[in-house]
Amino acid sequence: MEKRSNFTGKLGFVLAAAGSAVGLGNIWRFPYLAAKYGGGIFLLVYIMLAVTFGFSLMCAEIAIGRKTGKSAIEAFGVLNKKYSFIGWIASVIPMIILPYYSVIGGWVIKYFTVFATGGVKDAAGDSFFGNFSANGAEPIGWFFVFLGLTALVVLMGVEKGVEKVSKFAMPVLVLLTVFITVYSITRPGAMEGVKYYLAPDFSKFSATTVLAAMGQLFYSMSIAMGIMITYGSYMKKDINLESSVKQIEIFDTAVAFLAGLMIIPSIFVFSGGNTENLQEGASLMFKTLPKVFESMPAGSFIGAIFFILVFFAAVTSSISLMETVVSIIKDKTGWGRKKVCIIVFVCAFLLGLPSCLGYGVLKNISIGDFYFLEMFDFASNSVLMPIVAFLTCIFVGYVIKPKVIIDEIESSAKFKGQKLFVVMIKYVAPIFIVLILISSVLNALDIVEI
Ligand code: PHE
Repeated sequence: MEKRSNFTGKLGFVLAAAGSAVGLGNIWRFPYLAAKYGGGIFLLVYIMLAVTFGFSLMCAEIAIGRKTGKSAIEAFGVLNKKYSFIGWIASVIPMIILPYYSVIGGWVIKYFTVFATGGVKDAAGDSFFGNFSANGAEPIGWFFVFLGLTALVVLMGVEKGVEKVSKFAMPVLVLLTVFITVYSITRPGAMEGVKYYLAPDFSKFSATTVLAAMGQLFYSMSIAMGIMITYGSYMKKDINLESSVKQIEIFDTAVAFLAGLMIIPSIFVFSGGNTENLQEGASLMFKTLPKVFESMPAGSFIGAIFFILVFFAAVTSSISLMETVVSIIKDKTGWGRKKVCIIVFVCAFLLGLPSCLGYGVLKNISIGDFYFLEMFDFASNSVLMPIVAFLTCIFVGYVIKPKVIIDEIESSAKFKGQKLFVVMIKYVAPIFIVLILISSVLNALDIVEI
């Protein structure tokens, strides 16, 4: 069996974990939710949840990984044999997400090439995205490229691949984000949009604000899908775990916040203050924003910079997904990294094909409004992740007991937030997670509007 590799130090660990956390969710979901749920007040709720709920869950996962030195599939079983099933459920999640996330990654590369070759007018056309995503061969080609790049990095290993790429990509991502944000908020009329994004609107605040913020937090911090357990298993014992978690959270939240400043004022200016143009998901990024870029001076250039930024955000997330899957299979079989990488690449490619073709030849296969891609997204994010997060809280809070995690964290430094951690894991988090699960399922069934 190969020796388990490690991140070289704290910086490498924090940037790799932040690379996983900062992804499409920060760019195409956070700004939309913040605008929809009361601007400043949403931001405040989100930050409060991040430093309590997000903090506790992330500490638990990383500590489980570091203590056991295993990926999710083995880690739960090592701590208590009867509960190894939690590891199995957690392991399925990255396997579901990796293929469709890479399909979207492929779209991002395509858009980058269009903007980089001056094609802002084409990309802004009404039917551009529809035609592109429905055309079988081209999206498959870009999907192949994106997944292939991800696989190459994972093949190079934790230290030479994942860590090296994160150390380069994450600082560049921050620079590009700041650049576009400054450009966006200095456009004429943009300040109105900044106000719309940030001014607290209490009339939009309700219990659903809290649930929406919590659901977003989950996804955004890459919690409850085995990723942080895997990354924790590569973390050296002398690194301060608690302060690493804080840094990852600050990184992730700062990028989400800036993404809002980057996107919302521009859409505001473009649409003359009509916020109906503000959508979430693929239509924001691939339909609305190209039109916004077209209306700006140097639109092709800004668009190209924007899509490189999104590419870095997406690829560091897909690397974390593939690394998690690879490490799970390696732990189970003892096979070498190269063999496992090839198998995972081929399987993820095959599994991604339905999502890739779901807007074209397979368009007739859908459940309600859900095409393949949305179905995978719903199953993993809205159903399986809350279930795993709930089980993790119960496992830590009542089976192995919080002390095991606290001791692991204290093996490197004093755990300052331990009281908060215990209350969150045992009481607050499980209740909220069940509420999220119920509301997202009801929402999908169109019973309530979130
Ligand atoms: N955390 C990532 C984001 O904000 C999403 C992600 C999901 C990353 C699943 C990896 C795995 O977009």
